[in-house]
Amino acid sequence: MDQRAQGTPRVVLGVSGGIAAYKACELLRRLTESGYETRVVPTESALHFVGAATFSALSGRPVATDVWESVHEVPHVRIGQGADLVVVAPATADILAKAAHGLADDLLTNTLLTARCPVIFAPAMHTEMWEHPATQENVATLRRRGALVIEPAVGRLTGADTGKGRFPEPEAVFEVCRGVLARGELAERTDLSGRHVVISAGGTREPLDPVRFLGNRSSGKQGYALARTAVARGARVTLVAANSELPAPAGVDVVPVGTAVQLREAVIKAAEDADAVVMAAAVADFRPAVYAPGKIKKRNDAEPEPVALVRNPDILAELSTDRPRAGQIVVGFAAETEDVLANGRAKLARKRCDLLVVNEVGERKTFGAEESEAVVLGADGSETHVPYGPKEALSDTVWDLIGLRFP
Ligand code: CTP
Repeated sequence: MDQRAQGTPRVVLGVSGGIAAYKACELLRRLTESGYETRVVPTESALHFVGAATFSALSGRPVATDVWESVHEVPHVRIGQGADLVVVAPATADILAKAAHGLADDLLTNTLLTARCPVIFAPAMHTEMWEHPATQENVATLRRRGALVIEPAVGRLTGADTGKGRFPEPEAVFEVCRGVLARGELAERTDLSGRHVVISAGGTREPLDPVRFLGNRSSGKQGYALARTAVARGARVTLVAANSELPAPAGVDVVPVGTAVQLREAVIKAAEDADAVVMAAAVADFRPAVYAPGKIKKRNDAEPEPVALVRNPDILAELSTDRPRAGQIVVGFAAETEDVLANGRAKLARKRCDLLVVNEVGERKTFGAEESEAVVLGADGSETHVPYGPKEALSDTVWDLIGLRFP
């Protein structure tokens, strides 16, 4: 039974027991300040880190952890049924395991089983726990079922160690929640079930000799975020990854490539039956004209030879011009350092793609960053500003805009 109400969105904030539980307070404050009716459902272990009084004061609502409180109100069923969004932040390895396996031994796990709304998990744990195959399989299961599991951030963990597993900034988690709630009625029209999408990611490397190459600083993070969010919307995803060291996202078919020419071949092949192609890779425009089969040696008696370059194919322009399927949507990315919008518009027209995601690059912006800010320009003249936030939020906007353009 769907008891979700029209009007003020009802958010359930599940908090599980990790040190990052204190950051859930900041997230809760953002949710309530934005006018969402927020109810906190902590696990019993979360209350070792933050007291129920804090959650209750910040949410203005009573806080319960177990199914035996206020039994006459059947809270273990009602809370989930009435929610427009459930966000579990932080999500420990334990709650991910319970959710993946359908366990229901407290109020939060019961709520997860009865919710029919979008569910977001923001995991936080030590790197070893995050990387353990058990956790990774649980995450894959949850994503396959449609939950949005935010990738943990990399950085300082509890104690002296650093690595992947850090709780993302509460503001970033809030932006993902806001994005999912905003999709509301859009969700059905922009769902990607049954669609095949092709994404290129990373940066190409153009070899000069067996040990040297011309490359760029693209990390691949944006392309990987696009892949994860597309999987979360039910798409079949082919990710053509150029020199990225990121772990393969669950449920994604990864095709590793090195050079622009290899990337072109892989993307064109995968695009044959694709509904959308998103070119997030940084493709080298030029490659060395000659590849030296042996290492180029320094000669003390002569100046170095200049490196002659030749043009690489412009894959985005080629895809946009010769579309193998009617109605296929082609999206490009552009990194600009100046006159961002004007250069973006000119590039969109030149490349003839449907959408162009324009990032401003500069120090600490875009390359290798966990977060970004962009403007998505449409060939129809549209302009969608995406505020500074996680790459998942930008990815979701891109999929929304693509979904709305499907014939
Ligand atoms: N791209 C491509 N093939 C290339 C170069 C770029 O498909 N040989 C794609 C990128 O994947 C990206 C978009 O084109 O989606 C924009 O890339 P960018 O390097 O900004 O465009 P350029 O045409 O190289 O423009 P300029 O260097 O003049 O800024």
